[in-house]
Amino acid sequence: MTVALYPGSFDPITYGHLDVIRRACGVFDRVVVAVLVNTQKAARASGSERAATIREAVDETLGEGGARIEVSTFEGLTVECARRHGAGFVVRGLRAVSDFETEMQMAHTNRKLAPEVDTVFFMTALEHAYLSSTLVREISRFGGDVSAMVPAAALRRLGSAPSVG
Ligand code: PNS
Repeated sequence: MTVALYPGSFDPITYGHLDVIRRACGVFDRVVVAVLVNTQKAARASGSERAATIREAVDETLGEGGARIEVSTFEGLTVECARRHGAGFVVRGLRAVSDFETEMQMAHTNRKLAPEVDTVFFMTALEHAYLSSTLVREISRFGGDVSAMVPAAALRRLGSAPSVG
């Protein structure tokens, strides 16, 4: 059974992330979406809130396909999380060339730390390539409409009070 880990901040999950999850499901038997908590980045929502939002978004949009997707949180190294889940692959999305340098550095670093874990990239679908969680948070903070950018589950939570953790 092929297992892939899709790590990220997901603060909040966007349609771009969902697209990567859906496509990873077409390649791997099981996909573990892992939300990094206690990062240096100040998150708007807690790790468990972000994970719950992803779970709802996956169930609401991917239907039966969602059964092969696990959503969890993690602290520390991505490769250790991959090992705990028995994942031989790390999945990441690439939106533009500007993502490439950081992603390449992370992939090489992870490979050095855990040679048995390989990184696989999905080109984010063109219609979602402009999306970023940072911009979604900013637009939402100023009352802008992000309904075309995030799934309903994230939209509901963006409307509620922020929390940290
Ligand atoms: O959604 P993001 O913020 O782009 O995700 C970045 C993430 C979580 C994949 C990256 O920061 C990460 O892997 N953090 C865990 C710490 C770690 O493993 N660092 C070494 C990898 S280079």
